[in-house]
Amino acid sequence: MIKMIKKIAHIGIAVENIEEQIVWYRDILGFSVVGYEDVPDQKVRVVILAVGEIHVELLQPTSPDSPIAKYLEKKGSGIHHIAYEVDDIKEAIAYFTEKKIQMIDKSPRSGAHDKQIAFVHPKSTCGVLTELCAHAR
Ligand code: CO
Repeated sequence: MIKMIKKIAHIGIAVENIEEQIVWYRDILGFSVVGYEDVPDQKVRVVILAVGEIHVELLQPTSPDSPIAKYLEKKGSGIHHIAYEVDDIKEAIAYFTEKKIQMIDKSPRSGAHDKQIAFVHPKSTCGVLTELCAHAR
C-alpha cells in the first residue's frame, strides 16, 4: 500500500444551471467563488467554490452530448464525483492499473484550473465516480 492520497481536492456536483443553483453554496452557505472555467474537453462549464479547506465544483453541461448532460438526464442534479488530490498522477494511474482498477483515463488530461486529472471507473470504486487530481507540473 502506498500513501498517495493527500486530501479531498473537491466534490463535483452536476447542475442544470450554475447561476440558479449556485445560490445554495454562495449565498446561503457562504462559499466564495474561486473562478469560472469552460472545460471544452468535457463539454462543461465549471464554477469552483471554496470555504476554508472545502472545495466544491458545480458542473453545468455546455452541450447535450456532454457526459454531465447524460448524467442529469439519468439521475438529476446531485453528487457527480469525488476528487482526491495526489502528488503524481502518472504514478497513481500506474499503481491503479497494476492493481487491476478500471481507469476511464489511462493517461492524465487537463481539468479546470490548470490541474492534471484522470477518472477512475465507478465499477472499481464502490459506485462513486472518482477523479484523481494533481497540480500540473
Ligand atoms: Co472534478
